Amino acid sequence: MIQLDGIAKTYHSQSGPVPALRGVTLSVKEGEIFGIIGKSGAGKSTLIRCINMLERPSGGTVMVDGQNITELNETDLRKARKKIGMIFQHFNLLSSRTVFQNVAFPLELAGYDKAHIRPIVTRLLALVGLAEKHDQYPSQLSGGQKQRVGIARALANQPKVLLCDEATSALDPQTTKSILELLKTINKELKLTIVLITHEMHVIKEICDQVAVMENGIIIEQGAILDIFTKPQAPTTREFIATIMNHDLPERFRHAVYSAHASDNSNVIIRLSFIGVTAEEPVIAGLIRRFDIDASILYGNIDHIKDTSFGTLILELSGRQAAMNNALNYLKSQDLGIEVIGYVPGHTGTTV
Ligand SMILES: Nc1ncnc2c1ncn2[C@@H]1O[C@H](COP(=O)(O)OP(=O)(O)OP(=O)(O)O)[C@@H](O)[C@H]1O
Ligand SMILES: [Mg+2]
Repeated sequence: MIQLDGIAKTYHSQSGPVPALRGVTLSVKEGEIFGIIGKSGAGKSTLIRCINMLERPSGGTVMVDGQNITELNETDLRKARKKIGMIFQHFNLLSSRTVFQNVAFPLELAGYDKAHIRPIVTRLLALVGLAEKHDQYPSQLSGGQKQRVGIARALANQPKVLLCDEATSALDPQTTKSILELLKTINKELKLTIVLITHEMHVIKEICDQVAVMENGIIIEQGAILDIFTKPQAPTTREFIATIMNHDLPERFRHAVYSAHASDNSNVIIRLSFIGVTAEEPVIAGLIRRFDIDASILYGNIDHIKDTSFGTLILELSGRQAAMNNALNYLKSQDLGIEVIGYVPGHTGTTV
């Protein structure tokens, strides 16, 4: 549905050129919710604004629904933009217009008459749960309600794509959840493709199918969200994931771990990652039954993305060298991720 190829954007400020995007290539499939996460200044807003040409890229091409919109003239671009709705962090509502009139605005611009506009707006306000508010002004609404108006307005022209620039960043956690639920609903019911940018990993986890991580104007990592959450590669990705789930060895164990064998009776610290059914299988019980070793759980968590459970366990294994090697080989043969974090001297009492 959306294909970006080698998108570059350099701003020219008084202090010189600012390269905000340095070659971004990505593709978003029809019906997908695609998240782009990055720290402040990474280039997220610039990138999402390039998708509807609010910002003209300095290089590269943008295809939306099979059309190369980088080469359109103003008239054709205005037409193409109807396929692309957008919502903003600060809602950007017109304060002198009522809720109804805000949602009607893009339809008025498109030249439709009142009789055509009224049922469309009424239906959209019902869809976003604001049927009762149509005569109120933005100043009379809560943040969540304002964003619902923003969403209804973005849907007025029946777009195929919805772009969301930090759409929940100004909202409290509860309201954020309800707006994300609404986005999920319209994604399903209207088969709308959604691209959202955020600096919050929980937003990505809540609703995205795919995620791309941006840093310094490029994408440093991207993939299906279960893959990114369970096997993050780049340090920045790991940092983002750590904000919602601990992937690292808890602080109190860190100082005690060596990267190489300290001695033959070292205990080994491993991290197991589970996805899907293995998360519920008794891996540790099996391990201890099969091999003459002990396993202590130092840290564990299980989480869910969509309907898939996944988790991390950090274990300290102790026992004779040969038995531990066999145990590690057994774990490696199982359908789970295993990583040796390091070693601690045996009998140190670090286990819990
Ligand atoms: N109009 C502009 N003129 C000059 N530089 C700009 C302009 N807009 C953005 N930049 C610069 O481009 C870079 C990327 O900015 P952008 O707004 O895309 O980042 P962002 O990832 O959306 O950040 P945030 O999370 O803070 O919204 C930054 O270094 C920013 O200062
Ligand atoms: Mg931004």
